Amino acid sequence: MQKLLFVCLGNICRSPLAEAAVRVAASERGLSLHIDSAGTGGWHAGEAPDRRAVKVAAQAGVDISHLRARQVTAADFENFDYVFALDGQNLMALREASGLDHAHKLHLFGSFADIGSVGDPYFGDQAGFELCWQEVQRGASALLDALESGEIA
Ligand code: 4NP
Repeated sequence: MQKLLFVCLGNICRSPLAEAAVRVAASERGLSLHIDSAGTGGWHAGEAPDRRAVKVAAQAGVDISHLRARQVTAADFENFDYVFALDGQNLMALREASGLDHAHKLHLFGSFADIGSVGDPYFGDQAGFELCWQEVQRGASALLDALESGEIA
């Protein structure tokens, strides 16, 4: 089974939403994937997603309240086949952490749609989380298109 990891800074806003969006989209397509998320930072380790992220997902019928934040580990670069950074800053942090051996596993989540970096909604309001949820859903669909077509190496 292919293993996909989604990574933002805190693992409480963007990457849990990306994880949820990809899980829902994969299920709709009948794809069986191992999906997880993590943060390049560890400040929120052990915490549930931000309540605004929980709310926006719940409005779409998706429960993410059971997820718990964790920091990326060296083992993740071994264990996962693909590691998707939610923005360019975290992609750079992952490049530094992964070393050359696993650099080929790293991708920008939004690069398969015309999204680029998914903006950090943490210091904003609920509307920012709604935009984030829209973006990660669009990104999830484009990412699975790329995965299914073999476009992602
Ligand atoms: P995330 O958002 O990376 O999408 O989970 C953030 C969460 C927490 C912080 C920054 C961004 N923080 O500074 O604590």
